[in-house]
Parts: sequence; C-alpha cells; structure tokens
Amino acid sequence: MSSGLIERIREAVDSALQAFQAAPSAGALEAARIEFLGAKGRLAELMKALGALPKEERPEAGSAANAARQAITAAHQAAAAALERQAGAADLLDVTLPGRRQPRGHQHVVSRTAAEICDIFARLGFSLVEGPEVETDFYNFEALNFPPDHPARDMQDTLFVSRELLLRTHTSPMQVRTMEKTQPPVWVVVPGKTYRRDSDISHSPMFHQVEGLVVDQGITFADLKGVLTAFAAAMFSPDTQIRLRPSFFPFTEPSAEVDIACVLCHGAGCRLCKGTGWLEILGSGMVDPAVYGFVGYDPDKVSGFAFGMGIERVAMLKYGLDDIRMFYESDLRFLTQF
Ligand code: PHE
Repeated sequence: MSSGLIERIREAVDSALQAFQAAPSAGALEAARIEFLGAKGRLAELMKALGALPKEERPEAGSAANAARQAITAAHQAAAAALERQAGAADLLDVTLPGRRQPRGHQHVVSRTAAEICDIFARLGFSLVEGPEVETDFYNFEALNFPPDHPARDMQDTLFVSRELLLRTHTSPMQVRTMEKTQPPVWVVVPGKTYRRDSDISHSPMFHQVEGLVVDQGITFADLKGVLTAFAAAMFSPDTQIRLRPSFFPFTEPSAEVDIACVLCHGAGCRLCKGTGWLEILGSGMVDPAVYGFVGYDPDKVSGFAFGMGIERVAMLKYGLDDIRMFYESDLRFLTQF
C-alpha cells in the first residue's frame, strides 16, 4: 500500500512541474498552484491518505510527501519568477516605441549675434582680429587719448587687476594694438568680452562688443556713414534708417552716436524707443590724429574711422528682449528660442 502512495506522490510532482512550466500567464500559474498546493489540492489529498497508512509505513511515505511539497513549491516559485522576467523584458524592449532623441545644443545667442555682425563686415572687406581681455592702462586709456583724470579711469568704472593691469572696458585698445602691428590700409573688426563695474537690466559687469577700425587713404565721414548704413540694413532690415548724433570720445574727432529707426514702430514712437522713434546702437567717429601719434601713422597721409557696438544691445534690439541678464542665466527655456 505504501509503495502505491509513493507512486501517486511521484506522479503528482511530475504533473505539477509540467503544469507550472506550461502556464502561459500569472492567472494560469495561480490555478495550477491551487490544484496542487491548495488546501483541497492534490498534495493535501495525499497527506490525508498518508494518515490512513499503517504506522510502520508512515515514515517512508511521509518523507516522500515532504520532499514532494518542497519540489512543487520550488517549481512554482521558479515558474512565477520566469513569468515576471518575461513581463519585465517586454516592458523594456517595446520595439514599437520611438527612440529617445539626444537633445541637440546650438550656439549661444550672443555668439551667434557676434558671428552675424562680423560676417556682415567680412562681406564689406573687413578682417577679424582678437585681443587680450586683461589690458594695460596704456592700451585701454592712454594711447586712446584719455586724459589722466578721465572718469573712466576711476575705480568706480573700471575693474583693476593690479596697479598696471585692468579688465578692458571696451574693445578700442585693439585699435592701437592693430595699428602698432600693421601699416595702412587697415580694415578690421574685433569681437570680444569687455568689463565695467555696472549691473542692472541693461548693464552687465561682463558684456561683449564688436569694434571696427578703418584706416586708409582718403577715408571720410561719408565712408563711416556708408559702412554703418550697409551694416544696419544687413543686420535689421533692408530699409533700416540710421541717424548720426554729435557725441564725444577722446579717441575720435568728430564723434557720432549712431541710432537706427526703432525696430518695433519704425520711427512712430513706442515703449521700446521711449517715444523717440530711434534706438542707439553704437558709438563712432573719425580716428583722432592724436591716436596716430602713438602708433607712428602720418595723419597727413591717412585717415580713418572707428566704431564700437554692444553685442547684447544689438541682440536685444533684434529679438525684442528687455533684460540683459537673461543672456547669462543659462535658462534653456530662454536659450532654445534662438
Ligand atoms: N569704445 C567706445 C565705447 O565703448 C565706443 C567707440 C568705439 C566709440 C570706437 C568710437 C569709436 O563706448
């Protein structure tokens, strides 16, 4: 009798293992578990039959039944784990999902505007040069004809590195450096970083300028106006008007502040141009003969003009922005708009 029970136990294990392995889903597996391991399942039935065996046959059949319970339980766990792995893999490998795109970066709006400005001047025959951001008093002020007591030389406006060195307050020192190294004709633009002790919605302690310098034979104020008119047309829109207002810089004479007709209202007057119809974009003028004295040019043989513009200012006008600090906050919601 005992051998018959042991045989039935073995059969139960075989069919349980088969049933678990074949179960196609968690639901089917659970049904198979109840059939074999449930309170009224095959194993429970066999345990009942075990109790009816004569005393001396019970130990052998009992240990067979215990081994069977262990084997069936382990097989159930293995089958459950296999089903879970399958489900997980299906989630990870949904081949119908579109691929994840790598976010693509692009040039910063300040770099792009600088490149655009320099490109326009390149087409007008200018070469591009760059120079140091840490400058000497000589190049930043003295050779540009700033008197010793000029307010720009004060600690209030200039960031000094040491007694002799400072962070350039404009790109104009490159006028002198360029003329020192080359003979006319000079046609250069100089993009770069500049520094001033200033910070509000339209001033940043670090900002960017593009300088322009032309020195050649017979250059007149009309050339200055012509070049800047062509620039405004290319940078803003083909019919952009410019206006020159008398101004003063120690290194140009005469000097002019250049305005463009307001990009929003085209001269009618609005909030952007504060009702004037005009927007200031740059400082300019004919190179002061005193500057030629520092670089050994003969003011009787050559003449020239120079201009300097803030790149952020040009970008703000072009894109209608009202806070210069946006350029430096690295906020992608802002940067990705350009
Ligand atoms: N360097 C002057 C500034 O930063 C601008 C300028 C450049 C004016 C060249 C005249 C000629 O304000």
